[in-house]
Amino acid sequence: MLYKKLIKTITTFALSAAFSLSAWANDPIIIKFSHVVANETPKGQGALLFQKLVEQRLAGKVKVEVYPNSSLYGDGKEMEALLLNNVQMLAPSLAKFDKYTPKIQLFDLPFLFDDIKAVERFEQSDAGKSLLKSMEDKGITGLAYWNNDLKQLSANKELRLPKDARGLKFRVQNSEVLDAQFKALKAVPRKMAFGEMYQGLQTGVVNGAENPYSNIFSQKINEVQKYITESNHGLLSYMVIVNTDFWHSVPEAIRAELIAILNEVSAEVNKQSHALNLADKQKIIDSGSSQIITLTAEQRSQWRDAVKPVWKQFEDTIGADLIQAAAASNNP
Ligand code: LMR
Repeated sequence: MLYKKLIKTITTFALSAAFSLSAWANDPIIIKFSHVVANETPKGQGALLFQKLVEQRLAGKVKVEVYPNSSLYGDGKEMEALLLNNVQMLAPSLAKFDKYTPKIQLFDLPFLFDDIKAVERFEQSDAGKSLLKSMEDKGITGLAYWNNDLKQLSANKELRLPKDARGLKFRVQNSEVLDAQFKALKAVPRKMAFGEMYQGLQTGVVNGAENPYSNIFSQKINEVQKYITESNHGLLSYMVIVNTDFWHSVPEAIRAELIAILNEVSAEVNKQSHALNLADKQKIIDSGSSQIITLTAEQRSQWRDAVKPVWKQFEDTIGADLIQAAAASNNP
């Protein structure tokens, strides 16, 4: 009697386990993709295109949920969420990785790249690609680079020469290199989450910022900054990353399709991003909110000279070879 009861219990258990296993096997894999910018930016557009192509090609197998504008996690929290597998995909700015790999600080060095084409050349080089894999031991796998554009300085006073920035408080991303860059200008850097920048500028907690046009326009930064200096002094690009354990748990055939989709999306993002930024620059001009200041070659070289010591300061942490390889991408 006891024996029969035991068999029944085991059978019931086995059946329900098999059922839940098959239910699990039939459920789509959920990829939560969280980010901090607007849908209308290069990253926002990339995330939506990724979602759309996955829906078309992997329907029923994978579902991508996109959370823009810090709506799920803001700066500071999103990386932690990825490591806990609460989100599976992110595309943080390259300025936000220094806790995980010091080498990626390379991308923040001021005046490193002459234009976005040079950035792309470096990212596609062996040295650039190797950085995608530099955080695997921390549980983070890099899959692709998405570029936004070069950054512009903004303030409520005209910034034409480095001395104009002296004493001003600038919002910076959580990056030691960017901190050093503003200190080299004798300005005061303030690390602040992206989602808090508008209010920080509006209330005067900070006086200035550095952003590409797409982030300036989509966050309405131009409404609280009278002047934008077209300095093109630094880069804002992203690494699309996944939680390494999650990534390895995805069946190989699906992973291969996800990579193919991502490669297609990355090519599209990087093809469109500069044009999108130029269109946003035009919208800022049309709005009449701010004056865009164009620097002469002589003025721009004064900015370059003022911040160049930052390269030496970070040479040991980043590696002289890597800096040289990146700088060489300006002269193919
Ligand atoms: C910033 O914090 O300024 C950027 O990293 C935001 C973004 O993701 O473009």
